[in-house]
Amino acid sequence: MTPGITTAKGIIKVFAGSGVSGFNYKGGGHPLLKKILSGSTLPNDPEFVAVLKTITEKSLPGNSNFPGLIQKIFGPLDVIRFKPLTGYLANNLGLKNPGIEKWIELYGPEIMRSERNLIFSIAGNTIKDIRILAEKLKPYPHLAIELNTSCPNIKHGNNLSPEFISEACYEIKNIQTDIDLILKLAYDPNEGYLEIAGVSRDRVGTIPIGINSVPCKHIPDDPKYFGNFGGVSGKMAQVFNWKVADDLTNEDFPVIIPSITNLSDLKKVTNRFQGREYAIGMASAFLTNPFQAHLVLNQILKEG
Ligand SMILES: Cc1cc2nc3c(=O)[nH]c(=O)nc-3n(C[C@H](O)[C@H](O)[C@H](O)COP(=O)(O)O)c2cc1C
Repeated sequence: MTPGITTAKGIIKVFAGSGVSGFNYKGGGHPLLKKILSGSTLPNDPEFVAVLKTITEKSLPGNSNFPGLIQKIFGPLDVIRFKPLTGYLANNLGLKNPGIEKWIELYGPEIMRSERNLIFSIAGNTIKDIRILAEKLKPYPHLAIELNTSCPNIKHGNNLSPEFISEACYEIKNIQTDIDLILKLAYDPNEGYLEIAGVSRDRVGTIPIGINSVPCKHIPDDPKYFGNFGGVSGKMAQVFNWKVADDLTNEDFPVIIPSITNLSDLKKVTNRFQGREYAIGMASAFLTNPFQAHLVLNQILKEG
């Protein structure tokens, strides 16, 4: 069975995970990434969707310690580390973003004209912020809102209560009644994601779950480039993220399974999750091995 999650707007097979496609799907501010993504073969297939980088109500400066202009040009070098060929990638970006008002000014018109399937990713730690974000994004074309409650690089990431998260889900669904909501959770050794997903489903009904980078602090053999902050993606995250996917699909949640880096990973996931409702949610593969990422994309989309 080929992967696919049913949404109000049709079946989605592959998601370009939030963060890698930038605020307007063209690769954030990083010139190299921008080149890879905008000039690449990211398809305009209705079964493929790009999740934009997370936006908050107020702007966030991110975690780079580089000053001014140096940060603008080389910032990613300060907060992204990867080991070529291993598929390992850690980031501590810290949800750097311009805030919703500026985002609308910078990217709104372009997004209005876009023909690509998009999902907007939002985060906040008050219900008021969540409401504002859902309201302000409403006029812009999108398939779904992804509520990012699990960024391992900001203070409140992973500390939001299940009650807050389920309430935030309810608010978004209330404001944007005609689109899907995706809840983005992260691995933790106490399996808190199961409680959050359960409480949220009780509040708003069936809800697809996305999976974030694995907080570095939970990975014993991570080099801990960023101390106890930061999240690990790609190969090193597989064992953790696929466990989350196992636990959640066992409870009948549709899951967007991340951390696939090549065709052999795709095969493993296809075998392991056979008969369950899931889609593929590659993110860091687009940075560490974009060639393989595109092979995986094309393989899934051509399977029909
Ligand atoms: C450079 C980078 C930036 C990211 N930014 C975001 C983000 O803004 N919001 C979010 O929810 N996840 C973000 N993520 C997490 C990814 O969307 C994805 O959930 C995670 O990396 C696990 O997937 P992977 O192992 O396939 O990379 C980011 C990941 C990377 C590598």
